[in-house]
Amino acid sequence: MANKVTIYIENKPYQVDEGLTILEAAKTVGFYIPSLCNWRNHDCSLASCRVCLVKVEGERRLIPSCAYNVREGLHISINDPDAVAARRTSVELLLSNHSMNCQACRKNGVCELLDVSRQVGARPDQYHGAKTPTTLDEVAPGIVRDTSKCILCGRCVEACKKTQGIGILGFQNRGFNTIVGPTENRSFNNVPCIQCGQCTLVCPTGALMEHNNIPELDEAKREGKIILAFAAPAVRASIGEEFGQKIGTNSTGKLAAAMRRVGFDKVFDMNFSADLTIMEEANEFVRRFSQHAPSPMITSCSPGWINYIELNYPELLPHVSTCKSPQQMFGAILKSYYAEKNGLDRSKIFVVSIIPCTAKKYECQRPEMQVDGVRDVDLALTTRELAQLIRRSGINWNRLPNEDFDRDIIGDNTGAGVIFGVTGGVMEAAVRTAYHILTGKEMEPVDFTPVRGLENVKEAVADIAGTKVRLAVTSGMVNAKKLLDEIKAGNVKYDFIEIMGCPGGCINGGGQPYVFPPMLPNEDPDIWETYREKRAAVLYEEDRNKPLRRSHQNPDIQKLYKDYLGIPGSPLAEKLLHTTYNTKREQYPDVTPETKPVTK
Ligand code: SF4
Ligand code: SF4
Ligand code: SF4
Ligand code: FES
Repeated sequence: MANKVTIYIENKPYQVDEGLTILEAAKTVGFYIPSLCNWRNHDCSLASCRVCLVKVEGERRLIPSCAYNVREGLHISINDPDAVAARRTSVELLLSNHSMNCQACRKNGVCELLDVSRQVGARPDQYHGAKTPTTLDEVAPGIVRDTSKCILCGRCVEACKKTQGIGILGFQNRGFNTIVGPTENRSFNNVPCIQCGQCTLVCPTGALMEHNNIPELDEAKREGKIILAFAAPAVRASIGEEFGQKIGTNSTGKLAAAMRRVGFDKVFDMNFSADLTIMEEANEFVRRFSQHAPSPMITSCSPGWINYIELNYPELLPHVSTCKSPQQMFGAILKSYYAEKNGLDRSKIFVVSIIPCTAKKYECQRPEMQVDGVRDVDLALTTRELAQLIRRSGINWNRLPNEDFDRDIIGDNTGAGVIFGVTGGVMEAAVRTAYHILTGKEMEPVDFTPVRGLENVKEAVADIAGTKVRLAVTSGMVNAKKLLDEIKAGNVKYDFIEIMGCPGGCINGGGQPYVFPPMLPNEDPDIWETYREKRAAVLYEEDRNKPLRRSHQNPDIQKLYKDYLGIPGSPLAEKLLHTTYNTKREQYPDVTPETKPVTK
């Protein structure tokens, strides 16, 4: 328990925790001080935006509240007229160097800069002058950067460096010409960016966003393609937030209904292919484990993680499972088994995945992710993009009924599939099925809780008929790096490891709805600390309520193997469902005209 101190806001006393900044302390007692460069109460070392200025008794100047700690007896005024005017001026100066094309900006509606502008009463035309030359980088499949909307807050720099340990973003140039971006103002395609999108989650403006792929969907519709879509597990745990529902609402039924109403010809639950992934991955693990292949085996379903290992630890690639991700497996099955059984022309099928992830946009374009020259998945749209589609289709989310996803020789799914969306879920699902493969019996109880939770690294031992299997689970690349370094140094020994690219797994993927507490008045003030748990709880509850909770019990998966694939790891399964990964360490030597962002 932290010690308490008494502070005074507008001369009224409040007890707050010692050690907090004024910004944090004010929040705990019900005051909101606008802020832009401060992010999740992280160390705001730059204090660059000056939007959080307050008056503090005894100080000659106004104080940035994000960078000043409370102490006993401190008198603070948020409503001091000079502080109010200074905050407004700070925002107006930001707006004076901003593109202000809000009508066309996809961030409009969830833009923190606009929200703060409204709070402080900023006038966009107050200051005029030259604007910093801007860069538009639309080259990378996952992420788009538009510096005309950047306010130099530095949050993305912190996220890339501290959350992901990657650090490819930084401040470039000086003074008026300062911009934020990769070194030499390169495109994301020309630097070791893993396309995880964690920077887009913290950007307060439209300067960093996912690549907008909706125009390609429109083009496929114009061409009369048969559009088969599926939604990843984590999407149901967050899409409702886009329409004002509380964080932690399960939207599975509305999600299926909405996807149908935006015009997809068939809508499936990606839990189906998560079950399929487990069939292949658990069997691969059992095979490697029994043959004493080099351990550990590492999961491969997170494309951000795959990008990371290809770039940073290529020597460990032989440890990575050869399974494609559930996204790619679903596409491959739709364009083979599903097309053949339904008499569909494969060239007319257009597969769309709805995903919480920006790296999956990159993954579906990888040359490895095709069968006989046909791409598994044609388009990946984030949760945020699906919400945009729903809005433009005129759908009233609140009035949507709960509907089931399609079941059409494929589609049935189990509780094991749905927990793929949270860190530890793939491992738990794999343990449930590996137990069955090794013993012929069902694991009881079905829950394997040691791998649940949001700790940085979770370790567990699964006792499978007397055989001890050593497991580890981690997410976020800072944690993955520590684990991999320990493995390389020989300090730890595991048999099977799950790694997900984003901290907490897909529930916190780079394509998920933004969580900006000031714009979420119905949420708890500490929602930054709890939103991942709330989304995870949705998935665990859905798992608990499923009649079948083990991937190998899925009747459509059993039929798929019986009628088509044979057994896990069969030649046909290898062709459709497995792939290879390769080093990318030397892939970014030069910037070419094709990969250079546009500067104007
Ligand atoms: S980032 Fe915000 S302020 Fe800037 S153009 Fe987009 S909506 Fe407008
Ligand atoms: S997408 Fe990920 S790796 Fe790339 S810049 Fe953003 S946070 Fe860094
Ligand atoms: S890109 Fe976004 S997060 Fe990064 S400095 Fe600019 S406004 Fe801030
Ligand atoms: S939030 Fe305090 S200076 Fe930006």
